[in-house]
Amino acid sequence: MRRLEGKVIVLAGSGAIGGACARRYASEGATVVIGDRNADVAAASAEELIAAGGKAVSQHLDGTSAESIQSLVDRAVTDFGGIDCFHANYASFVDGTISVDVLDLPMELWDEEMEVDARGFVLCTKAAIPELLKRGGGAMLYTSSGAAYEVAPIRVAYSMAKASILALMRHVATRFGPQNIRANVIAPGLILHPRLEKKFDEATKKAFMRSNMFKDRLGEPDDIAAMAAFLMSSDAKYVTAQVMCVDGGATSRA
Ligand SMILES: NC(=O)c1ccc[n+]([C@@H]2O[C@H](COP(=O)([O-])OP(=O)(O)OC[C@H]3O[C@@H](n4cnc5c(N)ncnc54)[C@H](O)[C@@H]3O)[C@@H](O)[C@H]2O)c1
Repeated sequence: MRRLEGKVIVLAGSGAIGGACARRYASEGATVVIGDRNADVAAASAEELIAAGGKAVSQHLDGTSAESIQSLVDRAVTDFGGIDCFHANYASFVDGTISVDVLDLPMELWDEEMEVDARGFVLCTKAAIPELLKRGGGAMLYTSSGAAYEVAPIRVAYSMAKASILALMRHVATRFGPQNIRANVIAPGLILHPRLEKKFDEATKKAFMRSNMFKDRLGEPDDIAAMAAFLMSSDAKYVTAQVMCVDGGATSRA
């Protein structure tokens, strides 16, 4: 499928899911402008796409800095003439590394989660929308998490930050829908990749599997990439203001 032929997609946040999205975007014909706090990860992703015959560039991105996000968007405009889609995908996981409830949550961790995952995505929106408007419309995509819906006795900062993204998406879809901008969220369930493989033992993985409808697998980055490519494409031209839970049915909002 070449559903993204001719489109320029800015991907803010590489890594496991971002890397898979970049591969899928490029394989469907998009030019991908990749930013990440880890410039080497972003560069490796861009090089992989180019080696496979795709078009991509990368640069360092500080997802907490308006100037840095603007610079990524400017790079896309300078090098490729504008942007058609923006995917805000990076995240801080600082409070996922400690098992505390709200009473014991250090406020500096809450501040960091909100600065990166919530405030950062607002900055992405401010930088991207004016360029999408210049093209006559486009697509905003935000990566949230099942944590936005889950009940959990720990990890409240991450959950709050990821829930805030849903409100941002709904605002963007409503405010800019009349100008042909669609906005959607992907809420992944547990998506296994090397960083999480190291973190979870087999018993934990099995417990996660029991929470989805398929008892023999967890999610993979390509599951998210498939949904992301659909949402960026004209196949999704009547899809906006939605949260797509790609989680094997672990959450159901039917
Ligand atoms: N993997 C899962 O199970 C899962 C589940 C639900 C949601 N998600 C979401 O999917 C997205 C991607 O996560 P992943 O699992 O691929 O993790 P990952 O760690 O592989 O990728 C995250 C990337 O974000 C980058 N990053 C972090 N802070 C940044 C900042 N301030 N500025 C710029 N870049 C920054 C990191 O360098 C990293 O490359 C995140 O939004 C995450 O919350 C993942």
